[in-house]
Amino acid sequence: MNDFVFCSPTKFVFGRGYVDRTGAELAGAGFKRVLVVFGQGSVVRSGLLERVEQSLVDAGLSFVECGGVRPNPEVEWVRAAIEKARAEGVDGVLAVGGGSVIDAAKATAFGVPYAGDVWDFFAKKATVGECLPIAAVLTIPAAGSEASSSCVLSNDAENRKVGTNGDVFRPRVAIMDPEVTFTLPAYQTAAGVTDMIAHICERYFSAVGEVPVTDNLACGIIRALMEMAPRALADPEDYEARANIMWAGTLAHNDLCGCGRSTNPTARAGGWESHALEHELSAHYPQVAHGAGLAVILPAWMRYVWRTNPERFLSFADDVFGIEPVDDDFEPREEAVADAVEAAIDELQMFFVGMGMPRVLGDFGVGPDCIDELLATLEKTKGSEFGQFRKLTMDDARAIYESAF
Ligand code: NZQ
Ligand code: ZN
Repeated sequence: MNDFVFCSPTKFVFGRGYVDRTGAELAGAGFKRVLVVFGQGSVVRSGLLERVEQSLVDAGLSFVECGGVRPNPEVEWVRAAIEKARAEGVDGVLAVGGGSVIDAAKATAFGVPYAGDVWDFFAKKATVGECLPIAAVLTIPAAGSEASSSCVLSNDAENRKVGTNGDVFRPRVAIMDPEVTFTLPAYQTAAGVTDMIAHICERYFSAVGEVPVTDNLACGIIRALMEMAPRALADPEDYEARANIMWAGTLAHNDLCGCGRSTNPTARAGGWESHALEHELSAHYPQVAHGAGLAVILPAWMRYVWRTNPERFLSFADDVFGIEPVDDDFEPREEAVADAVEAAIDELQMFFVGMGMPRVLGDFGVGPDCIDELLATLEKTKGSEFGQFRKLTMDDARAIYESAF
């Protein structure tokens, strides 16, 4: 097991009706005047925003609304929010939404004390230091931003989508009330579950050998998700299913599933190859939901790289799907291994497709002619070679994209 630093400072307040505790929790955490960040209307329509704001008032906090964050949030929105936060003199930022809203809130929170342009942090021209405190009322389990050290923003002018990392902007408090996810459309539920599985896989398929404690957590969470997701899709108000999925989303991305698997103790485990390939897709085509993009990219990446370390994929096949190579006198071992690994990747992809996720990139209405532009921005963000399980050149990236059509 490699050395690691596990930092998960978020206070998780998890349960039925717990949305109404938001104000009390924020007051306890020292918030006084709050910027309330939300998306494109789901929290208004469901009445959630009103409940959250009432709880702020009841706890003696004042607030300013800042709505309209789009999925795959854009830096221009953040620039305007920073101006508003400064003008209103807020001392904390509360996100009421999913990954997009939380990431927009995070960028606002570290943009306020910074004198330059907030994109500098994403262009790697600056490192986040100071940051207003952040809290989140999570409405969609998916990105894991309620506890993660990541913040991902798009820049439409440059056709880019880039992440930045820092423990300083992990939320102080995450209010997690599974009942608020009852209103999620099936597609978003499925995209969220796909993203969680990808977060676990990116760490599981790092360059490190076995770490049984971490590996069992990882595969156990994937198995639980595969049991719970069909239940939530069949009955959106199945509380147990919604609650288990919600908690899985947090554990998939707060780094618990990477402990001991990182080659650098203070960095996240894994090479994040599928995420790098997907982010280009949702950068150029903001209508692509991140999780849906991963449903296509992750299996394509797996098929391309598994021969680098078949044993790792065999562990995954066995622990997640109970698939083992069938050794007999007629089939050579290599063929039996290939059959087992490919069967596991097929199972994973069938699970995504069974939830309503796309199978090929063409399902997003794009053609292979988009690959050149995806590669151009990928190289800007990742350099000419990236990844860890297997180093990928731009030719490898092209082959993976091509195989996904
Ligand atoms: O905007 P509204 O109207 O609120 O609608 C949203 C949005 O259309 C809707 N929604 C959310 N909660 C709902 C709901 N609809 C009904 N009922 C509810 N309870 O769902 C749609 C998607 O929301 P979004 O926040 O975009 O989803 P998600 O949580 O998947 O976030 C995706 C973003 O997070 C980034 C992705 O790249 C993408 O930009 N990521 C962030 C990460 C992080 N910060 O750690 C890691 C991830 O790998 C990912 O890259
Ligand atoms: Zn993700």
